[in-house]
Amino acid sequence: MTILLTGAAGYIGSHTAIALAEAGYDVAIVDDFSNSSPEAVRRCEELTGAKMPLFNADVADKAAMRDIFAQVKPGAVMHFAGFKAVGESVAKPLMYYRNNLDTTLTLLECMAEAQVGPFIFSSSATVYGAKAKVPYTEESEIGGCTNPYGWTKFMIEQIASGAAKADPNMSVVLLRYFNPVGAHESGRIGENPTGIPNNLMPYITQVAVGRLPHLNVFGDDYDTPDGTGVRDYIHVVDLARGHVAALRYALEHKGTEVFNLGTGHGVSVLELVHAFEQATGVKVPYKIAPRRPGDLASVYADPSKAQRVLGWKAEKTVQDMCADSWRWQSSNPQGY
Ligand code: NAD
Ligand code: WQD
Repeated sequence: MTILLTGAAGYIGSHTAIALAEAGYDVAIVDDFSNSSPEAVRRCEELTGAKMPLFNADVADKAAMRDIFAQVKPGAVMHFAGFKAVGESVAKPLMYYRNNLDTTLTLLECMAEAQVGPFIFSSSATVYGAKAKVPYTEESEIGGCTNPYGWTKFMIEQIASGAAKADPNMSVVLLRYFNPVGAHESGRIGENPTGIPNNLMPYITQVAVGRLPHLNVFGDDYDTPDGTGVRDYIHVVDLARGHVAALRYALEHKGTEVFNLGTGHGVSVLELVHAFEQATGVKVPYKIAPRRPGDLASVYADPSKAQRVLGWKAEKTVQDMCADSWRWQSSNPQGY
């Protein structure tokens, strides 16, 4: 069976393409390379020995997507394509709503036309508003997002579950990722942010490789054990395996199901810095800086539903996350 992956030249999709190929699925990819390089897909093929047909198209382009569906005849769709930078979404909200919503609507329409049921979506822990209490369960309150990016995820969850309610053929799995980090253990593919990274792990690795002078730790006065922000970092290879488990579930069930994909363990900014130094032997100079607006003190998952229903749980350690991120960054200092 061929699985159509949108946005899989990107960070999480490329790792998932490998996990799917290893699990015996055929993979086809559509990406417009707005935040990625076709080289990532070439390396996925090299790592797996599988052919991964790659279409250069905007997922919001209905005619192009109809054509791709006709050629690929997918048995399921995984939707990674979208813009993801929280700060940029505040500056350019319309661009975010346009891209993230239009890609999804076009995709769901093409799926309905082609009678393709299973749809796996890259949602985010960001849909849990500031009101929810940690650890977040799938029943925790959602909404009250603090930025347009988060609202696109919230809205797409409503759109996809509405589509599944109306069409008994559909099977929607909404995967709420916590903080994906790490890279494939080969060091051949990894996260490749353009410009100065927004997220902590790529910032750390770019400091370590000498591209940036020091890390700014955003706040050391939170109500957390060491005062710095606590997050649930999850290895991208564990996350990729979670998609294979979600696909198997979607192929056997109808309707909509939501899963948190996290480890259930909170790690502070300084704990991650020290774990990185320990795993790699490389010092990461840092300075304490003011809090970043919109940040919460502590965010982590209750991932027990994914374990119970999908039989999936995260297995890799924080040391693995640091060592693998570093292997990717140090062997590809300028990215792809
Ligand atoms: P990424 O930017 O590396 O990958 C997204 C891919 O989508 C890129 O290759 C980009 O070129 C492509 N794309 C964007 N708009 C497109 C369009 N209109 N048509 C075709 N391709 C398009 O991001 P990622 O980290 O791999 O994230 C994948 C998904 O997971 C995104 O939807 C993101 O919002 C979601 N997510 C990411 C994180 C995270 O921290 N990385 C956390 C939660 C959710
Ligand atoms: C982690 C911690 C920062 C950078 C974001 C999105 C979320 C999801 C994952 C997509 C926080 C601190 C960071 C730095 C720092 N993405 N930090 N210095 O904000 O938890 O989540 O990415 O869905 O929606 O909001 O991740 O990696 O930016 O920050 O001190 O230079 O590191 O304050 O405590 P975040 P992050």
